[in-house]
Amino acid sequence: MKKIDVVLGMQWGDEGKGKVVDVLTPSYEVVARFQGGPNAGHTLIFGDQTHILHTIPSGIFRPGSINIIGNGVVIDPVILASEIAKLEAAGVEVRSKIWVSKRAHLILPTHRALDAASEAAKGAAKIGSTLKGIGPTYMDKTGRNGLRVGDIISPQFAERYNALKTKHQGLLSQYKDFTYDISDYERQWMAGIEVLRSLRLIESEIEVNRMLDGGSKMLAEGAQGSMLDVDFGTYPFVTSSTTLCAGVCTGLGVAPHRIGEVYGIFKAYCTRVGSGPFPTELFDADGQKMRDIGAEYGSTTGRPRRCGWLDMVALKYAVMMNGTTKLIMMKGDVLNDFPTLKVCVGYEVGGERIDYFPFETNEQITPIYKEFRGWHTDINSIRRYEDFPQELKTYVEFIEHETGVPVSIISVGPDREETVIR
Ligand code: GDP
Ligand code: IMO
Ligand code: MG
Repeated sequence: MKKIDVVLGMQWGDEGKGKVVDVLTPSYEVVARFQGGPNAGHTLIFGDQTHILHTIPSGIFRPGSINIIGNGVVIDPVILASEIAKLEAAGVEVRSKIWVSKRAHLILPTHRALDAASEAAKGAAKIGSTLKGIGPTYMDKTGRNGLRVGDIISPQFAERYNALKTKHQGLLSQYKDFTYDISDYERQWMAGIEVLRSLRLIESEIEVNRMLDGGSKMLAEGAQGSMLDVDFGTYPFVTSSTTLCAGVCTGLGVAPHRIGEVYGIFKAYCTRVGSGPFPTELFDADGQKMRDIGAEYGSTTGRPRRCGWLDMVALKYAVMMNGTTKLIMMKGDVLNDFPTLKVCVGYEVGGERIDYFPFETNEQITPIYKEFRGWHTDINSIRRYEDFPQELKTYVEFIEHETGVPVSIISVGPDREETVIR
């Protein structure tokens, strides 16, 4: 029986999932997104081309590939249509390669307004949402009010759209100081619906299982990261979907025993964009150096990313919940010039040492660090593990020892060629 392999972020998102999917994709015929939506920004770089994908799976550049937007994804037709237009302008064949689940939920213009209103009302306690309407759309999904892709072919679509919009307008009127105007966006949205109508809309759970039965090689592409998971992340500073491996089952309709390899992507350090707990965050020159060298600015919002040392407690937590079978370390090259590296191996909370990720993340968490010697080498041009400096091998082997999972790929630069496969 053919299984589906999975690529997941092990931290707070932006680990480099887009690059990894692009690197792995020659071995797969089908790439499928299973959760999240345009809050994601997945960067792919090859030669002189840079692409940032929000909704479209990162397999799209491979000729002949099938790219599925699964039922667990939430879709903004404006953003999807603009992604398609940009790719087509770059000469990429897109439309014949995208299949969209009829069960995927639609992000309405009023969902975006509700996201903005909710964030504004929270003031300093805001989540730092990407303001793409993700939270309100998943709320309508679980609240059983949502509109789905399959609804756009129904004769009652306009009626259903208006009913949900009116409901949202009622909710928005309760935010006293919040003003909004969706008229322009709504026009683009209706045009986006036409683009969506022209795509192949499918019962993706049936197609996915049929293709797996037929021996197709399939890769599930996660968005966000494990520490942003709605259940196990740093709640409430999380996204609204299951970002863990479990989300593949509900977001594509595959049974747990069909999960194959689980690739866990992590940066050699940590970043987070938006609010919420981040135990190893740096507020000093080292943090700024990571941000500068790593170009740590959001792919979707352009916001500066918060930077800090690698957090082994959080990484082990993510490995545990995902059943990660292979780890992939990204952006080691960003640490090329650091004399000393630190890895958090435990937390001190209320005077006590703990080695797990706690429920109480509001309390002061003091990281306990183990120090490593930096490698002082430009590793970007290295292509074989044997050629890495010993200091980098020591760092990688420590991570393998702590997690019990092999680090099978090491990325040494943003380009698809800058990759060391062991
Ligand atoms: P994703 O959301 O997980 O796909 O990651 P993003 O695309 O949001 O952010 C990762 C950023 O790091 C992108 O700008 C990538 O081009 C870049 N990147 C990926 N791998 C590497 C690497 O090994 N080294 C460096 N320097 N940059 C990388
Ligand atoms: P990729 O797939 C990094 C963060 C937001 C915010 C929180 C909730 O590129 O790794 P939301 O818009 O989902 O309601 O925002 O989650 N966030 C991400 N951070 N990478 C992402 O996606 C993210 N998607 C959401 O910054 O803190
Ligand atoms: Mg990203």
